[in-house]
Amino acid sequence: MNEIKKYLPYIRKALQDAPNKVDPPTDGALRHRGLDTSKIHAMGLNESFFPPSPKAIQAMRDNLNAVNLYPDAQCPHLTDIISERTGIDRDCIVWGNGSEELLKGSIDLSLSPGEGLVLPVPTFWGYKAMVAAFEAKVSEIPNLSDGKIDINGVHAAIDDNTKIVFLITPNNPSGSMIEKDELERAINGVPDDVLLCVDEAYYDYGIYAGGPDVLSVLKRREGPWITVFTFSKAYAMAGMRIGYALCSSNEIAQALQKTTCVFNVPLLAQYAARESLLDIEHLNFILQETKTGREQLYRGLCNLGLEPLKSVTNFVSTKVPANGRKVMRTMLENGVQINAWADHGYEDFIRITVSREESNSMCLKTLEKVLNSI
Ligand SMILES: Cc1ncc(COP(=O)(O)O)c(C=O)c1O
Repeated sequence: MNEIKKYLPYIRKALQDAPNKVDPPTDGALRHRGLDTSKIHAMGLNESFFPPSPKAIQAMRDNLNAVNLYPDAQCPHLTDIISERTGIDRDCIVWGNGSEELLKGSIDLSLSPGEGLVLPVPTFWGYKAMVAAFEAKVSEIPNLSDGKIDINGVHAAIDDNTKIVFLITPNNPSGSMIEKDELERAINGVPDDVLLCVDEAYYDYGIYAGGPDVLSVLKRREGPWITVFTFSKAYAMAGMRIGYALCSSNEIAQALQKTTCVFNVPLLAQYAARESLLDIEHLNFILQETKTGREQLYRGLCNLGLEPLKSVTNFVSTKVPANGRKVMRTMLENGVQINAWADHGYEDFIRITVSREESNSMCLKTLEKVLNSI
């Protein structure tokens, strides 16, 4: 008997049908493929091109010998800092193994099979797998042509069956955010019996670019909400897997915690995150360098005759007169790793993560060469 068939009854139908786990071309995966990554400009995965705060690195070094111990399950030291900064009660703050665990947990806590979820697309590709595992009835709302979320479309998709609505601001892969004048409307249009989950993975970049403070508007919302942050981007700690959620009530926070594993945030990540949060100078340094690099990339892409989307984040996306995957592959062969949009209908879009000046220039030169050759 076919081995796979024999075991299929033991696997939930939704997971049988869900796409296989993706294997992003991380530095390690590329090295495993035999590529010399020291010669590749890594501009594909929206990682920070700067290392984390030197204080965070020192804290990890200082605590290497402690990894025989379990980490704190609720990250109390970190909770103190975030609670003081945000004014959110300690028992409404939840820590996750990256923000992705908390986004997935938000679906898990709110939605039973067949119930509705509203998601603006394109967005972070991780949502596809998260959503597939939950047997949700998904309404995908295409973004507007300038990359912005179609707020009216999101509101119109909400019906009696909807349990959770996502807003992602700033969004990936467009890089655009919900502006101040639209934010209240975006939030107020989600009914009070629906969980609103805001993904603020790129929060720091949005604020640095003059974006609105989502939390201050959420605090006035009657209905339930969760807003999710990460240390993977502006804090340059993608490899440490740590993020947190602020919740509208203790009940929501407790439910979210129940969706996570007991010891979900690694010990060294907790030490590093604490120092990162306190090292405001380093954060501002990364934000300023990122802004400079983003402007360089944007100008360079315009000079190539392209029309990049206006981004406030650590990446810039643009339509190209070619297949994005082909451009991505050819760029890698030429020593620059970028990304192509994954969504159907956007096969001619690429996304470039901001890097140092030299890498940005190399990327632009290589892109010009590649676009002329294919
Ligand atoms: C919009 C968005 N949300 C969430 C994530 C997940 O980040 P992490 O799990 O590293 O915190 C990403 C990663 O790229 C993202 O782009």
